[in-house]
Amino acid sequence: MSVRRLAPKELQPESFSFTPENLAWAKEQITHYPPGRQASAVIAILWRAQEQNAGWVSEAAIRFVADMLEMPYIRVMEVATFYTQFQLKPVGKKAHIQVCGTTPCMLRGAGDIIEVCQHRIHHDPFHLSADGDFSWEEVECLGACVNAPMAMIWSDTYEDLDKDSMNKIIDGFVAGTPPKPGSQIGRQYAAPEGGPRVLKDGGAAPHAKASEAPSQPALSDNDSKKASESANAQERPAPKAPAADATKDHPPQGGAPKEPRKSKEPKK
Ligand code: FES
Repeated sequence: MSVRRLAPKELQPESFSFTPENLAWAKEQITHYPPGRQASAVIAILWRAQEQNAGWVSEAAIRFVADMLEMPYIRVMEVATFYTQFQLKPVGKKAHIQVCGTTPCMLRGAGDIIEVCQHRIHHDPFHLSADGDFSWEEVECLGACVNAPMAMIWSDTYEDLDKDSMNKIIDGFVAGTPPKPGSQIGRQYAAPEGGPRVLKDGGAAPHAKASEAPSQPALSDNDSKKASESANAQERPAPKAPAADATKDHPPQGGAPKEPRKSKEPKK
């Protein structure tokens, strides 16, 4: 994780304002929240500002959004500098590649993906490629660890990457035909690599004998599991009646039981 600061003054545009379409959209977003809570729309509106501003938020954009939501500038600045989804300086025109470098992705080859970015874009993160079309950075977990290693480009994630597939993805963005997001090895969503491994062949466990296989059909995504008759039955044993006097035959050790302490009467 790098220090997140606004771009230097020489890169900052003088002003920012929404296009009429984006302004109408932003005003509509604010109506989703109760009066006085318009600040809750800050992430959505800041994200739209970033999309309009070539993929990064300028200081002018931060001030514009703060004014629109009646928030102190520093509050919007805190949001923009906290979330790595917001870029604070110009990024590649065609793609800004965020490579996850957290442990699961690193163990599964994120180092290779970073090498490709260094080779194809620039040795250092946050630097534009020679043609200004690409940039990259390493980020923390983006929540697709099960398909590690992965990278995010704009709003899409590209998963199950290796050097070849990362090169192909960059080629796709160069040609203006980005590849399909998601797993690059054909995995269905986050299902096990190579297809389903359980609930196949009538749901029998791999070690079960054929004669023990249940007769119900295998469950699939399209069939919801039906509750059995006993699904709602209480499995807990019925409570026993309280013992008559558990201390009668087994008086407590250490002499006769003490009398219960009497509560003091309140002073009058
Ligand atoms: S560790 Fe890479 S997406 Fe979670």
